[in-house]
Amino acid sequence: MIDKESDETMIMKIKSDTETETKAEMGRDEMAETPKLDLSGAERTARIVELERGSVIQTYTRQPILLVRGSGARVWDAEGREYIDFVAGVAVNTVGHCHPAVVEAIRRQAIELIHTSNLYYTENQVLLAEELKGLTGMDRAFFCNSGAESVEAALKLARKATGRSKIVAAIHSFHGRTLGSLGATYKPMYREPFRPLNEADFVPYDDPEALASAVSVDTSAVILEPVQGEGGVNVPSPEYLRAAREICDDCGALLILDEVQTGFGRTGKWFGKEHSGVMPDAMTLAKGIAGGLPMGAMLAAESVSNVFQRGDHASTFGGGPLVSAAALASIGAIKDEKLVERSEAMGRYLRSRLAEEIDALDVRGLGLMVGVEMEANCPEIVARARERGILLNATSDRVLRMVPPLVIGKEEIDRVVTVLGEILREP
Ligand SMILES: Cc1ncc(COP(=O)(O)O)c(C=O)c1O
Repeated sequence: MIDKESDETMIMKIKSDTETETKAEMGRDEMAETPKLDLSGAERTARIVELERGSVIQTYTRQPILLVRGSGARVWDAEGREYIDFVAGVAVNTVGHCHPAVVEAIRRQAIELIHTSNLYYTENQVLLAEELKGLTGMDRAFFCNSGAESVEAALKLARKATGRSKIVAAIHSFHGRTLGSLGATYKPMYREPFRPLNEADFVPYDDPEALASAVSVDTSAVILEPVQGEGGVNVPSPEYLRAAREICDDCGALLILDEVQTGFGRTGKWFGKEHSGVMPDAMTLAKGIAGGLPMGAMLAAESVSNVFQRGDHASTFGGGPLVSAAALASIGAIKDEKLVERSEAMGRYLRSRLAEEIDALDVRGLGLMVGVEMEANCPEIVARARERGILLNATSDRVLRMVPPLVIGKEEIDRVVTVLGEILREP
């Protein structure tokens, strides 16, 4: 006997498969993207810019373009202009925009199950936790939805594990904007309006002595980025994290490595900690974890992870089936396409081309996490590069940050370096 309901489900699936295949066959250029406003080109951009001013809380300074499509290391705006993307959604799109394996994983999962909460088991979350254990050598995962949330989880874990509340962080650190993570974020102008916070003691980065003198038996955690991102792409010596590990061990404080930006191949290794061989007590992940979908994870060593007991921490959406499917697909693509090795090779190429072509004070970084320090107005350079089809980001007036998708090619790098050189030679 035919089960009517499962038969109908099957027909719906076949229909949806056929529709997707037809779209895929059409090729991206012919695929109609669906404008929500009955406007096109410059008018559509202008209208959205105007509406945003009246309807979205004004916390961002945005570039005046309306992005509508992405593929690999390129994005397109509503006026049909193409850009090489050296921002990658702020170091998120490691496998490139709309990677086919990620798109397919999302599509398949979306027709099965999107959300359940953590009141039940879901397979993708557990498989992802296993995958992350294998990649990092850490023991357990807690899933959340962003970098700041992963830092919150780590700070809470450190507080409960040690019974202490003091935090030590580095000058020029960035760990997020929620009230807990903000306390460990350096920029005084970010913290000042929101006091009182549980503020860290901030010590110079890459300075083991300064760290040793700040950490005491009252310290719950030292939190450090393996390479500082928002602070201007600052690379410490490998000895720094090793010294931090010893200092924490001596005082019984947890070492938290914030790998939100450095994770998933960004620095030419799977994780930034591998450059020094240090194992932290807790490690925070987000950005490049799920092919562009929002996800965070806090990984912990067995010695501290059991400190969190049922009810100590939670997230409604954390590690849901859809985002976990995307993460598994994205990790699979990083492996299949050897993107970690590619990040190392392309990062080396980018830094050498920049050193040849650009009159910079410093070109620094690891893998495809590159900072260019210049005696120039970097926000102005970002605007001029955008007009020439290149998306860049400045972490300050003097530092350009380059964090393209790891799929970036030599030709795209050459184009970016050439255009940047032209801009810098202009009067
Ligand atoms: C090292 C680091 N930690 C934490 C965060 C906060 O992540 P999110 O913006 O996802 O909350 C960021 C964001 O840039 C980051 O670079």
